[in-house]
Amino acid sequence: MQFISVAVFCLVFIPSWCLENLVFPPDFKFGVATAAYQVEGAWNVNDKGESVWDSVLHSQPSLTMDRSNGDVACDSYHLWRRDIEMAVELGVNMYRFSISWPRLLPTGFPNIISEDGKRYYNDLIDGLLEKGIEPVVTLYHWDLPQSLQDLGGWANPLIIEWFADYAKIAYTLFGDRVSTWLTINEPLVVCDGAYNKMWAPFLDDMKIGRYLCNKNVMMAHAKAYRIYDEEFRPLYHGKLSMPNIFFWFEPETPADAEVSDLLLQMWEGRYSHPIYSKTGGWPPEIEKVLAENGKREGYRQPRLPTFTKEEIDFVKGTYDFYALNHYTTRLVRKEKPGQAGPWPFYGCEELDVSVVNDPLWTTAVTDWFAINPEGLRKQLHWINSTYGVKDILITENGLPTVEKDLNDFTRLTYIKSNLEQILLAIDDGINVMGYTAWSLMDNFEWSSGYLVSYGLYSVDFTSPNRTRTPRDSARFYYSVIRTRSITSRQNELNYV
Ligand code: GAL
Repeated sequence: MQFISVAVFCLVFIPSWCLENLVFPPDFKFGVATAAYQVEGAWNVNDKGESVWDSVLHSQPSLTMDRSNGDVACDSYHLWRRDIEMAVELGVNMYRFSISWPRLLPTGFPNIISEDGKRYYNDLIDGLLEKGIEPVVTLYHWDLPQSLQDLGGWANPLIIEWFADYAKIAYTLFGDRVSTWLTINEPLVVCDGAYNKMWAPFLDDMKIGRYLCNKNVMMAHAKAYRIYDEEFRPLYHGKLSMPNIFFWFEPETPADAEVSDLLLQMWEGRYSHPIYSKTGGWPPEIEKVLAENGKREGYRQPRLPTFTKEEIDFVKGTYDFYALNHYTTRLVRKEKPGQAGPWPFYGCEELDVSVVNDPLWTTAVTDWFAINPEGLRKQLHWINSTYGVKDILITENGLPTVEKDLNDFTRLTYIKSNLEQILLAIDDGINVMGYTAWSLMDNFEWSSGYLVSYGLYSVDFTSPNRTRTPRDSARFYYSVIRTRSITSRQNELNYV
């Protein structure tokens, strides 16, 4: 008899029974995530420097939908013990948080290391370890020191050294206790988002700045990786990667297959191919399209700066696993020149494509968030087959709601469906190392301010102690972690 995998059998015959009988492997880790600017607050305590978010939202509050900012946020700077307690309540294996560069290095440079910044992150790391929770540390989750932005920020190639200096200090201070490091969160947002007026510092330079940034983040990540590899790995044996945000893209009709692949390369490939592919460098098809576009527009140099042979080798292979932030899916459609849309930062404008939602998908909050859990499994397959990467860690996945209710059935269902797709992918033979829910708690959601929530815990932003309360999704996640499966008996388990 021919071998049929459990997943194929299940999908065809009795999907719900089978999913309940698939279990997460013993070494699969469950986690929750936050980021410094979104939760810490205490934007100017002690000697903390100003970040681009502090500075731009103080001068232009209308850049967020509710004119809010992260000055206080969840006040995790003071309430970090409660954050750890919540991670313990959930039973997670890891807590992903980020270090605020200007909190640790108030000038942005290594000339001053803040004692207060050092103390804060030491306390958090030690507190987690005491409870048996692994700290997963992001070095950069978008809060660039304003001092460095004043010098050109990510468009200035000197940032490769500035970031390397910062990374080295973080490894030196915390590397004895942190064994999973994430360098630069979602470089697509750092470049395509920030240079398209959507994230701080809200620049408007999609033709040049965006691509200078693109090359510099790849080089900065690689340099931080190489430093760890040479100086710290022999001592601490940790692992590193750079989390990429993936939208999964599918062709709207079979005729759109080629442009759909191209858009995957524009989004995912531009930030992955240099690191994960066998050949290194930019995805060739994207380098070609962008060179042709630039030439037609009269530029003498490629807008996407080329890599030298040495640089290709320097960046290639700088990973220990693939770090994936996954949220949603789009269908891709070929357009006539000039009719691309709707979000230019997708790269639609360079490729003459549009992205649309499948009418069969439901959406959360607004139609930007189409719900298509199958997209996650397809994406895991794409990463695996395109780059031959062995291990994949899901570093973010979660659902936004406008409602603040504790009964958050839509979030619970979204997490459940995504976990199901992960179980199926594991059964397909893909090594998914773990899953990180975004987010531990409601927090400052960038330009949406506090209008949109992602938390397993709700946060009362009107109370001075920012009271945190578990939602139904927290109870559900707890039970998945307890049983290491998606069982139907979840409600029988006791939660705090
Ligand atoms: C990610 C980002 C997080 C969080 C999340 C929800 O792209 O890394 O900081 O905001 O989206 O929108």
